[in-house]
Amino acid sequence: MKALPSGWKLFTVLAALTLLMTAAVLASQPLGVDGLRSAIRATARSSLALFLLAFLASTLTTLLPGTASRQLLRERRYLGLAFAFSHTVHGALIYLYAQRYPELFWAGRNAVANIPGSLGYLFILLLVLTSFQAPMRLLGPRLWKGLHSTGTWVLAAVFCLSFYKRIPLGGWYPLAFALMFTAIALKLIAKQAQRLRRATPSLSH
Ligand code: HEM
Repeated sequence: MKALPSGWKLFTVLAALTLLMTAAVLASQPLGVDGLRSAIRATARSSLALFLLAFLASTLTTLLPGTASRQLLRERRYLGLAFAFSHTVHGALIYLYAQRYPELFWAGRNAVANIPGSLGYLFILLLVLTSFQAPMRLLGPRLWKGLHSTGTWVLAAVFCLSFYKRIPLGGWYPLAFALMFTAIALKLIAKQAQRLRRATPSLSH
């Protein structure tokens, strides 16, 4: 079997797929507000898939150790960067939407409602910038780990909130919220299992 792409090749493939998907969604409808909003939703969903893979990589190595989970963990940085790329497209489409249809964009929304999403973008920027060697060395391992762990949890919370407020719309939103909630629960369980293993080394065999 041909090996799956890894490293920057994996990032390039995922970024190209995100652009292709966005173009296909935009081309499938007449150019206008509906197409733009569909593409915003589609990129939020591609971001969710990539985020979950990066978010759960270490969890899976603990709960389901094996070749696949180890490989996922090895690619975590590139999955994270592909998530950031997909969310940059989400951001660019939101910018277009707000520019072209300000009355629709601001309907039922105010600056306060944009705080969680903006905080999410701030952390995406910080995580991307510090995913390279030089800033990583500058921060040192403790600060780096603190920043990446905080950023990851903030992004998980923004996803949860985005789905939670859409639950009354029905459709896939209750499922999406349950998916995020389950991912968070699994991560916390894996963390607890790791703590237990460290405290009682005999359990790790
Ligand atoms: C200030 C920043 C942001 C703004 C203004 C914004 C705006 C929007 C808009 C307008 C939609 C489409 C609504 C619709 O037509 O149904 C949307 C969907 C969504 N956004 Fe963002 N967003 C922001 C940041 C984020 C961030 C940081 C995340 C996640 C980390 C996120 C996750 C989502 C999700 C999960 C959806 C719903 C996707 C679906 O329909 O399944 N957004 N956002």
